[in-house]
Amino acid sequence: MRTIDLRSDTVTLPTDEMIHAIVRAHEQHRFGDDVIGEDEVVIELQEKAARILGKEAALLVTSGTQGNLISMFTQTKRGDEVVIEERSHTFLFEGGAMASLGGLFPKPVRGIRGYITPEQLERVISPDDPHYAHTALISIENTHNYAGGVIVRPEQVDALAGVAHDHGLAVHCDGARLFNAAVALDIPASRLVRNTDSVMICLSKGLSAPIGSIIAGTEEFIHQARRIRKKMGGGMRQAGIIAAPGIIALEKMIDRLKEDHQNARLLYNRLSKVQGLKLEKPETNILFVELDNFNINARQFAHELKKYNILVYGEYGTRSRFVLNRMVSRDDTIRVAEAIEEILERFRM
Ligand SMILES: Cc1ncc(COP(=O)(O)O)c(C=O)c1O
Repeated sequence: MRTIDLRSDTVTLPTDEMIHAIVRAHEQHRFGDDVIGEDEVVIELQEKAARILGKEAALLVTSGTQGNLISMFTQTKRGDEVVIEERSHTFLFEGGAMASLGGLFPKPVRGIRGYITPEQLERVISPDDPHYAHTALISIENTHNYAGGVIVRPEQVDALAGVAHDHGLAVHCDGARLFNAAVALDIPASRLVRNTDSVMICLSKGLSAPIGSIIAGTEEFIHQARRIRKKMGGGMRQAGIIAAPGIIALEKMIDRLKEDHQNARLLYNRLSKVQGLKLEKPETNILFVELDNFNINARQFAHELKKYNILVYGEYGTRSRFVLNRMVSRDDTIRVAEAIEEILERFRM
């Protein structure tokens, strides 16, 4: 039985077209040393990404984590405070690097479905008083993973950025899944970051490129970010090998995210009929289910699913996460729903 992998959209393998793009760029002698700005493919990717995101310039980085950190470090100084959603990737899953590497002081705020409201932000910005760390930046995660792939709407971003800017804060968007939000709302991704100073997007999640993320902002931001990327060991040489699939990701893979959203909705529709199972209608490709009405926790649930060759992470307490992605078809989704129904029937309280 084929394995169905719902652990993350990072498990997506590169398409044939992506691999061919690497070979073609090699045959056309387009690779070069990107640290000295000589890889044509990287330059093409960065220009394309900047256009799509509506920013002056963009920079290829190794990962989403590195992109978030570089964006924050570029716009803050050591000892500054960063307002961050309590369940955001940057706060929970980046090894505490904003503090350990950047000397930044995180001020976590529990938002509403992943969104820190302008009123909440107003309340947590520190006064200009030497007792407090200087509040320098707010980071918005869009879509918000832990909240369940929830979209932060453009008006919400604008309202929050308005308050942030009034108080002199920079605004960063962790847009690891920004295109999921854009496709679901049927708006250009640039609209979602019109009022953010920086944005990070991942090429290697639903877009299926093997490696890489992009950060974008003003020319000046990217100029400074390039220095910090180098210090963090992120200056890459013939990085066109990464950029070539990245170009295909931006050209060909954005629209197909809709299929992942449809499959997430299909899974939701099936599972919402399971008595006792709590779940929220997914807005994009991530569905969480709450198992607290059953005699099973997420870790045991992951173990049970594995017997059906279905993979999920088991680390979310009594919540289990399903990330729909290109490697999971509609038929696979139905197989997953059936397996969950069978398992939960056995673990009823
Ligand atoms: C919301 C969010 N931001 C950032 C990242 C980090 O990306 P990477 O794994 O490429 O470092 C992830 C990865 O899953 C993510 O989900």
